Amino acid sequence: GKGNYRHFMEKELHEHPVVIGETLRQYIDSTTRRVALPPLPFDPLVVPKLTITACGSAFLAGLVGRYWIESLARIPVDADTASELRYRDPPLPEGGAALLVSQSGETADTMAALRLLKGAGQSILSVVNVDESSMARESDTTLLTVAGPEIGVASTKAFTAQLSVLACLAIGMARARGTIDAAREAALIAALLELPSDAAALLDDNATIQALAVEVAEARDVLFLGRGNLYPIAMEGALKLKEISYIHAEGYAAGEMKHGPIALIDPAVPVIALCPSGPLLEKTASNLQEAAARGGRIMAFTDAEGAPALRRFAQHVIVLPTVDPFVAPILHAIPVQLLAYHVAVLRGTDVDQPRNLAKSVTVE
Ligand code: F6R
Repeated sequence: GKGNYRHFMEKELHEHPVVIGETLRQYIDSTTRRVALPPLPFDPLVVPKLTITACGSAFLAGLVGRYWIESLARIPVDADTASELRYRDPPLPEGGAALLVSQSGETADTMAALRLLKGAGQSILSVVNVDESSMARESDTTLLTVAGPEIGVASTKAFTAQLSVLACLAIGMARARGTIDAAREAALIAALLELPSDAAALLDDNATIQALAVEVAEARDVLFLGRGNLYPIAMEGALKLKEISYIHAEGYAAGEMKHGPIALIDPAVPVIALCPSGPLLEKTASNLQEAAARGGRIMAFTDAEGAPALRRFAQHVIVLPTVDPFVAPILHAIPVQLLAYHVAVLRGTDVDQPRNLAKSVTVE
């Protein structure tokens, strides 16, 4: 049941800390504090290409995975939604591998992509939440997320669980390839293991997000901006807002804003930016300043170090715990999902059963 929560989605949002912790426990050895993966169906040392595919939020988790795997493990990655990949006919190298991501393990397009990739000789690794699903059955190896059943139609805890697995996978493959040193690996593991308490702290402070939600609920359009591994989280924020509050939203790479979307900017269009401190903050801040100069209402998610620069022009600066930039997408996913939830509640939509949507999309 929903316990003391109004909706399954609210309950599941509050399960982020536990689900992240349980999932990490599965893939990080608690005594050695090193990533321990089951044998992979391919050798990371020689695999020429990894094709990542999925649908919806699971695809956005896969996109974060691409940033992590490319930057840490230095493996070339192609990432595309399953409905596109199936008909794109991309060249697939001999000895290549595919990585599928799915909560249900039953999504029709992802399953079709799996069979196509398998038929083209790619080894199949999947990140799935349901052990006895079609996808888990037909994959060479499955890395299970430990999210438990997800009832709300909009994916929440399964998403951070997917990210947790993908982070471990990137670290594990980087170690196998010798592209990460022991000190950096230890730092990343420490950052991951901090996440459950960071996430819990964030969920404890509902008031900040609720105040933002009051403003966002008035909007007709919302722009979410991010760079690097936070760009997919900007898209996740937009997807969640669209699907449960029915407010039009777009997730954009911050640097792309000046190539079109900036024309939309006026005080009625909230600009929600994901910009923790790190090498990309200055770039994103300058994009935001351009939006602010055109009357844009900036709501920026950052950390203590990033806050002062953003306060000069942003209407709202939301300070999240400071984390290693590598794990920032996992942390930032939580407030954007929470925001969508509170906006939907204010607008009185059917949060757990949004119109026109199904939990498991088993038709093309
Ligand atoms: C968004 C959402 C959907 C699913 C997508 C894939 O909140 O829930 O976009 O992520 O339908 O579903 P799975 O992960 O079951 O393959």
